[in-house]
Amino acid sequence: MAGTAVAAAAQQASGAGGKQIVISSANGLRACAKAMEVVKGGGDTLDAVIAGVNINEEDPDDDSVGYGGLPNEEGVVELDACVMHGPTRRAGSVASIRGIKTPSKIARLVMEQTDHIMIVGEGALRFAKAYGFREENLLTEKSRLAWMVWKRSLRDAGGHNNWTDGLDAPAKKPSAELQRMFPGVSEELLAYAWDRAVHPPTGTINCLALNLKGEMSGTTTTSGLAWKIPGRVGDSPIIGAGLYVDPDVGGAGSTGRGEENIRVAGAHSIVENMRHGMSPKDACLDVLKRVARNYDNDNARLSKFDINFYALRKDGEYAGASLWNGRIRSGQLRPSTFAVNDGGKSRLEKCVYLLERKA
Ligand code: GLY
Repeated sequence: MAGTAVAAAAQQASGAGGKQIVISSANGLRACAKAMEVVKGGGDTLDAVIAGVNINEEDPDDDSVGYGGLPNEEGVVELDACVMHGPTRRAGSVASIRGIKTPSKIARLVMEQTDHIMIVGEGALRFAKAYGFREENLLTEKSRLAWMVWKRSLRDAGGHNNWTDGLDAPAKKPSAELQRMFPGVSEELLAYAWDRAVHPPTGTINCLALNLKGEMSGTTTTSGLAWKIPGRVGDSPIIGAGLYVDPDVGGAGSTGRGEENIRVAGAHSIVENMRHGMSPKDACLDVLKRVARNYDNDNARLSKFDINFYALRKDGEYAGASLWNGRIRSGQLRPSTFAVNDGGKSRLEKCVYLLERKA
């Protein structure tokens, strides 16, 4: 028998008879596939989710995670990540770490190699280097350009910006003016940079994996809010906000505007909801209602951001949920989705949602 088949047979023989499922935020189709490959091979569920999100962390085209993530207001990429290992009930986390492409691996080292749970900033970088990680520049040309466009889009009350020649009115969208500022840059890249400048993303990837033995682990990793104040930490590395796994119940994670999630301790609240009998879907919707309640259910203010939750119960039932039904882009509604892999090809499923935007 091939190794994979042996592992699967051993798991079945253990009598667990459960489901193997990996779920993730919508940017995690490849991450889910990779994690499932590890799970099917009999690997540990934490190895699985970390191998999965490493794809995003190392991908310069995912500008919300790891290498190529959009930087802080000074043009420096700062990353947050955490991990939780269900079988041993342990956790590790790093925040505001610079110069390391794969913060999920450092969070795991914090969990395994220290008596701490969270290490931040300069200390986190020194810790990573002590374990042989190489410090690298995480800013790509694309993310540097988006940062420069953002800097040039800022204006004081008099309409002035030191990063322009002072004679130009701010462009409302990629224009001849923007092309004059950045000669030789394609219109497509300028459109991307302008979109990021005016809609600072809080992308992030969360990934949760369950194996046939009923073991579960999770990770969340991000470059955080684009153009943040240096040192800003979002929800992703906060155990109980960006991620929570309780092997007796299940796990949950989040992407989107971290400030809102921290205020409701989203992942922990969802797991507690499931502990008290709610389905993953209802558990997520209940926490989204708490987010809305923090704004007195004022849809005009809530429309300024989005937040997503993902929940995986220990019996394999799962859900993805968003505050809004999707985003409007070019007059079209793009529905909120999340990624799932239950052993075959990864797919996107629609999130349940609390509020509706009209195209
Ligand atoms: N959820 C990612 C962040 O707000 O940093």
